[in-house]
Amino acid sequence: MCGIIGIVGLEPVAGHLVDALKRLEYRGYDSAGVATLESGSHLARRRAEGKLRNLEARLAKEPLAGLIGIGHTRWATHGAPTEANAHPHATSRVAVVHNGIIENFRELRAELEAKGQVFATETDSEAVPQMVDWYMGQGDAPATAVAKTLKRLTGAFALAFLFPGHDDLIIGARRGSPLAVGWGEGEMFLGSDAIALAPFTDRVAYLEEGDWVEITRASATIHDETDAVVERPIAIVSAAAFQVDRGNYRHFMAKEIHEQPEVIGHTLAHFLDLAGSTVRLPNPTAFDWAKLDRLSIVACGTAYYAGLVAKYWFEQFARLPVEIDVASEFRYREPPLPKNGLALFVSQSGETADTLASLRYCKAEGQHTASVVNVKTSTIARESEAIFPTLAGPEIGVASTKAFTCQLSVLASLAIAAGRARGVLTRDDEIRLVRALGDLPGLIARVLRLEPKIEKLAREIAKATDVLYLGRGSAYPIALEGALKLKEISYIHAEGYAAGELKHGPIALIDEAMPVVVIAPHDKLFEKTVSNMQEVAARGGRIVLVTDERGAAAAGVETLETIVMPDAPDLVAPMIYALPVQMLAYHTAVFMGTDVDQPRNLAKSVTVE
Ligand code: M6R
Repeated sequence: MCGIIGIVGLEPVAGHLVDALKRLEYRGYDSAGVATLESGSHLARRRAEGKLRNLEARLAKEPLAGLIGIGHTRWATHGAPTEANAHPHATSRVAVVHNGIIENFRELRAELEAKGQVFATETDSEAVPQMVDWYMGQGDAPATAVAKTLKRLTGAFALAFLFPGHDDLIIGARRGSPLAVGWGEGEMFLGSDAIALAPFTDRVAYLEEGDWVEITRASATIHDETDAVVERPIAIVSAAAFQVDRGNYRHFMAKEIHEQPEVIGHTLAHFLDLAGSTVRLPNPTAFDWAKLDRLSIVACGTAYYAGLVAKYWFEQFARLPVEIDVASEFRYREPPLPKNGLALFVSQSGETADTLASLRYCKAEGQHTASVVNVKTSTIARESEAIFPTLAGPEIGVASTKAFTCQLSVLASLAIAAGRARGVLTRDDEIRLVRALGDLPGLIARVLRLEPKIEKLAREIAKATDVLYLGRGSAYPIALEGALKLKEISYIHAEGYAAGELKHGPIALIDEAMPVVVIAPHDKLFEKTVSNMQEVAARGGRIVLVTDERGAAAAGVETLETIVMPDAPDLVAPMIYALPVQMLAYHTAVFMGTDVDQPRNLAKSVTVE
């Protein structure tokens, strides 16, 4: 999604704006721009299609010296990713950067054009500066014009405003999309998140829903949606939150794949007492697992697949009925929910628009709510009754890797807690399962050693135009995740299927050209999956089997490659089998030469529906 930065500074800001935008690159974008006030009054803009290097080249040719400015990375929604549609959008009185969608832009545009305002872009965003401009043309001061404009907008957004002639004022507003205010020494900052502000300050306040803020070099005045002046707590953001360095890795995705032993260890340490082999949830919960009639799990993309694995665990360990749906369906399905229900939301960013809307629906329906989030300050975290954080650290690669396995680690801990509370798991079961989780970081480290073999295999996969992934039981969501990983970063078409569904359609696709990746730990369903592999082999399909030693010995089918995983208890198999599919997608994409960390058309944080 789009990224926003604003600086009321003491030295020329253009370079700092671009540096901050680089820290927001992970959100995904297809054009970028900055605007500054030159000599304190005159508005100047530099914008460019494509990556930030294009904007830097423009700035090298036509430098800016202003001490105040706003910047933006745009992920196109309304209007092509051209320079003309790039932000900041400006009139003679105001420049604006915008993240999100202005849903009523058509009505506003028609109204404003009827009043004589002249639009220059195809975007929804431009309605905002045009409306502020119109109010200012009627004599309103900047803050009044912004306050009036905000009341006219519908949709989810974050905005930053810069006003020619006002060299000590930037206004920011937040409704639906996050915006943080940073306090410096005689300087103030606005940013889409704390990562953007990292080089400048660690003193950050997050605007609440509906807030808007006036920042000057000396102060920040925050207003709520009724325009009343309010205080918001200033937090000191930890250094860890700012760790966005690629280190020695070529891509963030590679770094994040390799961080998994460590971050899973941190995450589990938060939920388990390993010495006592017991689950110890960090937050007292307002609900009682034993009294729940149903668990509804709602999420999008990779986070949804984590929820799908968890469904198997909650049903098996806690005998708790689980409903799971993708958030974009759930929110509009408006399902009836039982009185004693818990709704659990899984999200790395904690800002995904559909997941957030589903959370709000469930709250309105009287459900208990809890979230598994990686960003503890996110909206989903703040609006949930209970937060179960993943401690994956900032995930920069658009393709989710370490967040996924950390989500699984948290969900496994919760399922064990639920199983104990509901009397389904005995203390011995708990000891066994917690020990299995305790061994997980070491197992993951062992799986990472398979990388050279997987890299070699990726050369073959890179030649394919279609790849099928199959799995059964909790390996089925891993097959789905493997297909998603491959398609999102290599652009190779891939499908994930429950292996038992093969003969209900996809078997028609099998030929020598299409690799079939089979995720099959040697568990109670292994023999069933072997039958499916035989069906593939009989039709000339090329199988990539991901299994353990017992599985490799027992499979009895010819494979293009067999990846032999360490033996692992059933509980942790989904976490460790996630790694080969991540590495396979990563190396395939590297061979294909795609933009691994920022694949085309994708955004890290999907704050619009
Ligand atoms: O931030 P969230 O976890 O809510 O994001 C959900 C999906 O957009 C995300 O998992 C997406 O599918 C990833 N790019 C997959 O790698």
